[in-house]
Amino acid sequence: MKLVTCGLPYANGKLHIGHLRTYVPADVYVRFLRMMNEKVIFICGSDCHGTPIVVNAEKEGISPKELVEKYHEHFMRVFKEMEISFDFFGKTTEYYHHERTKEIVNRLIEKGYVYSKEVELAFCEKCNRFLPDRYVEGICPYCKSPARGDECDQGCGRHLEPGEILEPRCKLCGNIAIFKKRKHYFFKLTAFQDFIKYYLSNLSGTENAINYAKEWVENLKDWCITRDLDWGVRFPLDETLVLYVWVDAPIGYISFTEKFTREWEDIWLKGDAEIIHFIGLDIAYHHCIFWPAMLRAANYALPNAIVASGMVKIEGKTFSKSRGYVVWVEDEYLRAGFNPDYLRYYIVNYTSHEKDLNFSWDVFREKINNEVIATLGNFLFRIMSFSWKNFGTVKMVVDREIIERIAKSKERIVEAIRKWEFKSATDAIMELASFGNTYFQNSKPWEIIKSDKERAMKIVANALQIAKALIIFSYPVMPKSMEKIGKAIEMNLKSCSIEDATKVEKELKIMKLELPFEKIEEKDLENLKMALLDRFAEKPEISIEDFKKLDIRIGKILSVERVEKSKKLLKFIVDIGNERRQIVAGIAENHKPEELLGKLVVVLTNLKPARIMGVESKGMILAADADGKAFLLIPEKEVEVGTRVK
Ligand code: MSP
Ligand code: ZN
Repeated sequence: MKLVTCGLPYANGKLHIGHLRTYVPADVYVRFLRMMNEKVIFICGSDCHGTPIVVNAEKEGISPKELVEKYHEHFMRVFKEMEISFDFFGKTTEYYHHERTKEIVNRLIEKGYVYSKEVELAFCEKCNRFLPDRYVEGICPYCKSPARGDECDQGCGRHLEPGEILEPRCKLCGNIAIFKKRKHYFFKLTAFQDFIKYYLSNLSGTENAINYAKEWVENLKDWCITRDLDWGVRFPLDETLVLYVWVDAPIGYISFTEKFTREWEDIWLKGDAEIIHFIGLDIAYHHCIFWPAMLRAANYALPNAIVASGMVKIEGKTFSKSRGYVVWVEDEYLRAGFNPDYLRYYIVNYTSHEKDLNFSWDVFREKINNEVIATLGNFLFRIMSFSWKNFGTVKMVVDREIIERIAKSKERIVEAIRKWEFKSATDAIMELASFGNTYFQNSKPWEIIKSDKERAMKIVANALQIAKALIIFSYPVMPKSMEKIGKAIEMNLKSCSIEDATKVEKELKIMKLELPFEKIEEKDLENLKMALLDRFAEKPEISIEDFKKLDIRIGKILSVERVEKSKKLLKFIVDIGNERRQIVAGIAENHKPEELLGKLVVVLTNLKPARIMGVESKGMILAADADGKAFLLIPEKEVEVGTRVK
């Protein structure tokens, strides 16, 4: 039996493409295992505690509980749409999770692995509070990059202990923090140095995480496991403190298993299952150092493998929500109407699992069009349409060489999946599809059928067997699309095993296939690319010539009305000197139409006209964008309408 888990997403914000690099490959892995007839349990849930949650709740002006509920719902929705097939998706705010966490922490205390100590912590005198973790920002003492209280998120990736950060500032008010004494509780991590070294040398998974951890293990410090916060799992020895989120979050792997199945004790206490954690490299420290030490100390079973992905970057920039280097899964990808399977394929096939993945919409489009559609889709469509049109039912007499070719692919795929080499596995699928295309093309059944229907049927049977294998092999990666395609040859993929790829039926009945793939056009990406560029903190340098292409003039608002059915949009008639323009602008939320009448505004006049909610707009009224609210730019003195801006 295998237990596969994914790093629990913080329930403090929406899912982005970076997150999917944990969830999609894990799901592909689990789906392959299921098709290889292995017993596997797939577990995840929302990480609801810690300063990531409290800080964002404060920002959004809602309670931590409300925040967590909102994003938990969001996760369930998006995971369903993305076909991530968790058996159970829990929440660390639940009672059962708090109970399991306290049970484990009590074991650590009973065994003498927890002690208290006075420490100097960042404190904000203006806000009159201690500044745990994300409440404080400063400089990493190891690599001197800007860092958060508990992690060097932009530099070396190290975990930072409370009090370690240099030049701390309060995140809430920006004040320079002072250091103040406070009693906190520590886990004796240093006592586990030898154990962790030994553990790491036997740990399976990806090299990247394990190699990092081997460096880190040389410089361990005892681990502060309590925080000055109200939100979290209460610390049993002092109820004014909560446990650090990295104590309770991984325990979610256990508590969610416990909630899901009676077999949880076999898995987590007896060690009867293989435990495999999928994470991103950013949380390797926690999974390779803290977590095994804690499990060992509490006498729980140890994970067998840590599978860490490289990080996702956006158009070459390190992922950062605050800097706008992010692509949202629901609002941008799914709502743009793209097939979820495209993104799944892109994520597993772009590069090897351990490497960084540099997301770019253009590469995405190219890969999908050339590989999923022109190679795989094309072959499936050609052979299945040909069989449907000419035969309807095909007697399956398949050449031995064809079966051997499929078996070779199968072996390569299975081997690659077992080693978490998703790129190699999916490359093997595409190579088989190319082989199929070549076979079909070179055998020319459309000519042969004119004189020898029997021989044409043999060719078709060979090609159909390849198609069937491709559908099976691709199912874990592109489940929805393959289900639709599989239906056309009466396949029930849900109960399919990977061995079925080389099994030959007596005959196959073929129905009309509508390929569930649509080519991605340049124009489908325009808005998404623009949105990204618009959010980027650093824009590319432009020349004065670039700037001079803009025709910006002073205009006067002659009339304003609301755009029907829109909360945001106003429709203006603006005098720009030589003509009057109809322009739509999204400023209705903080402006009343009547107060804008007669105002002088700054207008970009040579912007390509567009229709916004069905209304024509020719130009753009410039405004300052302050957190989504727009404030119009107006000239400081009354100047003539039509005056140029440069
Ligand atoms: N809550 C912690 C994990 C606790 S596990 C006991 C956390 N949450 S997260 O929301 O920031 O990340 C969730 C998962 O997505 C993690 O596996 C993380 O590694 C992964 N990723 C988040 N951003 C990522 C990228 N930009 N690139 C690749 N993976 C990243 O960490
Ligand atoms: Zn650092």
